[in-house]
Amino acid sequence: MEWTTERRYRPYEDWTQEEIQNIKKNMAQSPWHTHYHVEPKTGLLNDPNGFSYFDGKWILFYQNFPFGAAHGLKSWAQLESDDLIHFKETGIKVLPDTPLDSHGAYSGSAMQFGDNLFLFYTGNVRDENWIRHPYQIGALMDKDGKITKIDKILIDQPADSTDHFRDPQIFNFKGQYYAIVGGQDLEKKGFVRLYKAVDNDYTNWQAVGNLDFANDRTAYMMECPNLVFVGEQPVLLYCPQGLDKKVLDYDNIFPNMYKIGASFDPENAKMVDVSQLQNMDYGFEAYATQAFNAPDGRALAVSWLGLPDVSYPSDRFDYQGTFSLVKELTIKDGKLYQYPVAAIKDLRASEEVFSNRAQTKNTYELELNLEANSQSEIVLLADQEGKGLSINFDLVNGQVTVDRSQAGEQYAQEFGTTRSCPIDNQATTATIFIDNSVFEIFINKGEKVFSGRVFPHADQNGILIRSGNPTGTYYELDYGRKTN
Ligand code: FRU
Repeated sequence: MEWTTERRYRPYEDWTQEEIQNIKKNMAQSPWHTHYHVEPKTGLLNDPNGFSYFDGKWILFYQNFPFGAAHGLKSWAQLESDDLIHFKETGIKVLPDTPLDSHGAYSGSAMQFGDNLFLFYTGNVRDENWIRHPYQIGALMDKDGKITKIDKILIDQPADSTDHFRDPQIFNFKGQYYAIVGGQDLEKKGFVRLYKAVDNDYTNWQAVGNLDFANDRTAYMMECPNLVFVGEQPVLLYCPQGLDKKVLDYDNIFPNMYKIGASFDPENAKMVDVSQLQNMDYGFEAYATQAFNAPDGRALAVSWLGLPDVSYPSDRFDYQGTFSLVKELTIKDGKLYQYPVAAIKDLRASEEVFSNRAQTKNTYELELNLEANSQSEIVLLADQEGKGLSINFDLVNGQVTVDRSQAGEQYAQEFGTTRSCPIDNQATTATIFIDNSVFEIFINKGEKVFSGRVFPHADQNGILIRSGNPTGTYYELDYGRKTN
């Protein structure tokens, strides 16, 4: 069935129980379900939204089109967790059901105020001429999960922005609430605008100005900007669509980048002494990363392991998209590190010495040690012939390369089938998570990260050390209580 505009925007209530059951049945046939990575209950999952801590639980929503693997009429589906590893789905909470969000409850963030969680998001509205009107709007979620929408526009489209103006992120800096919103100016260049909550009232936002982060002004739109603090240092995570590759090279259709500042000067909307632009992830997909400062101060982040405008092999089973593990952000020697939260260790069910394996369940973690000046290649999701996901650690020439060209069903090949990143020629560690159709590779405990999807063939479940002598540990992982 073709995804016409009409079908994408068909009202939720028009989808019959039978159609929904058929989607579920089709999804159940997929050989590529993850075990410990979030998947949509049905349909498509894209950006993480509303990542927060509320009423003693971690709250995380995902952008969802529930009726198939298409970017259609979006809502927010809710997940809850008590350890940031096990997520339980509690239903679709923010529906596109008012005149201010009629064509999609788009991405946004969350913050607790009193007994409620304030959800700050973009209402995507199309008028009768299909002209888009982006409204930054809000809703309150109470402790029983009941949603009450705030019936007014909190931030309207500015006169100097096109209709690409969305993804508000609320944050607290020294007791004052601020928000940033991504946009496109009238010269078709991306910007990030800073707002301040007047008297800390989340319904009263005043523009401070465009955030000064030494924008190179080559991107045409900044999606999903997030300002998060690692200690005193502001880190801006954002998706500069159309970024000139001369500014910083990348291979994915759209990049997810970051900059680190020495400090944040909100009066002047400025990140002071901003770093060079850096790629958040060297893999095949990590996008729309959402980060927030938890009540204990930690900067926690989660990424969509998917990309806009890309079709996935799982689409034929009526679903698409997954999230990364929740990663803690830290800064060491001026560099951003991203590493899964410690509770991931609770999934370790057994521990063995890393070696060749004819067959695994494709649900494991590896902790590898690579000596300085060494060269080694391992193949994960390997079949009998040794075809699979190849990871090459070349510490002589200072490069790590991931090649998925032999790993199962191929897609998005026009963006290349390998990814590389530079690496210092020193003793190096790699922590690797495999979850059937997901891999996440953390070099030197998060100094460099490669994330991506793979859709292995049925016989691709071995581990092969093709060359060199990587040593380490193999942990089988057991999620235990999958509730999704
Ligand atoms: C990023 C994005 C956001 C938007 C949302 C819609 O992937 O395009 O800018 O709010 O997805 O689903």
